[in-house]
Amino acid sequence: MDNKYLLGIEELDSQHTAVFAMLGELQNACAESAAPEMLGALAKKLADFLGAHFDHEESFMGAIDLPNRAEHKQQHLELAVLLGELVAQCAQTPRVGELEQTLLESLSTHLLRYDAEIGHAVEHLVTRLRSHEAEERLSPPERR
Ligand SMILES: [Fe+2]
Ligand SMILES: [Fe+2]
Repeated sequence: MDNKYLLGIEELDSQHTAVFAMLGELQNACAESAAPEMLGALAKKLADFLGAHFDHEESFMGAIDLPNRAEHKQQHLELAVLLGELVAQCAQTPRVGELEQTLLESLSTHLLRYDAEIGHAVEHLVTRLRSHEAEERLSPPERR
């Protein structure tokens, strides 16, 4: 996975890496004109993994109280629809290159626009925590 997609959050980064790897697998199978059953199975594996990833990411966004998470969630729903179409098409015809490309572009845009916000929010929280710790070291609160 290209470094531009890294959020600095280990769990989400490794899930995103897995998503790109699965998409690559699907693209290779497609380029090699694999059987529709094989493509369907790869697309289903990707869709299942992404579904679980979206759930995980949404729960994480709730935990850090990310402001824009309703819109982010809506984007996940739209990506899930696209994935559903891909799964259906893969199972019927081995020519799914165009839809794959659309999915790759939509995922890339999503990561850079929406998932990046999660990375920034965590960075901001860590910065606030560090400055709070520094302030406390300078003037510790009175213990009662
Ligand atoms: Fe996301
Ligand atoms: Fe994500």
